[in-house]
Amino acid sequence: MKKLFAEMFNRKASDPKNKPDQIMEAISLKPGQNIADIGSGGGYFSLRFAKIVGEKGKVYAVDTNSNLLNYVMNSAKSMGLDNIIPTIASNDSLGIPEKCLDFIFMRNVTHHLKNRTKYFKDLQKYLKPEGKIIVIEYDRGKYLSFLRIFGHYVFKEIIQQEMKESGYIFKKEFDFLPDQHFTIFSKQ
Ligand SMILES: C[S@@+](CC[C@H](N)C(=O)[O-])C[C@H]1O[C@@H](n2cnc3c(N)ncnc32)[C@H](O)[C@@H]1O
Repeated sequence: MKKLFAEMFNRKASDPKNKPDQIMEAISLKPGQNIADIGSGGGYFSLRFAKIVGEKGKVYAVDTNSNLLNYVMNSAKSMGLDNIIPTIASNDSLGIPEKCLDFIFMRNVTHHLKNRTKYFKDLQKYLKPEGKIIVIEYDRGKYLSFLRIFGHYVFKEIIQQEMKESGYIFKKEFDFLPDQHFTIFSKQ
């Protein structure tokens, strides 16, 4: 069952309609950098990040679901990638060393987070001073759509306001995604 979820997340993430290549280009991750993929799901992006950061960089795949993390680690093993660190998210810690991340990537996960402003504030400690947070989240969707009925969305304006309240600076937003908004924030 979990494999089905993992495959479904990866199918959606890799669908050309959702512009994964353009997302990667916009982030412009470099070899040797460290990134956390919070709500890593089936790991589509974690695996792509791992290929780029290489042996000197690290990818922290963070999820609340250990079966999904196992799926990601099995995929990494079969691809010969050993720079992904699976991390179970608990309430008060992500199990990531402080001040180590160049990027935190959150795609389609912020609608799951309770008390987002506190959550975003708490993420500050994991970032390097020049670190950035990337938030990709669903827009509300059409009337009677799954996204709207089940509340699987957060308005862009709300994310931007909460990030501001959490002490981040708006850097850039992109408008090439059909169903999501995409914003990059920096710590300073
Ligand atoms: C809709 S999926 C998105 C998966 C992936 N980011 C993608 O874009 O394909 C949301 C993921 O967030 C995870 N999740 C939910 N609440 C979370 C939390 N508090 N911390 C970390 N991950 C969480 C879920 O288990 C699931 O894997």
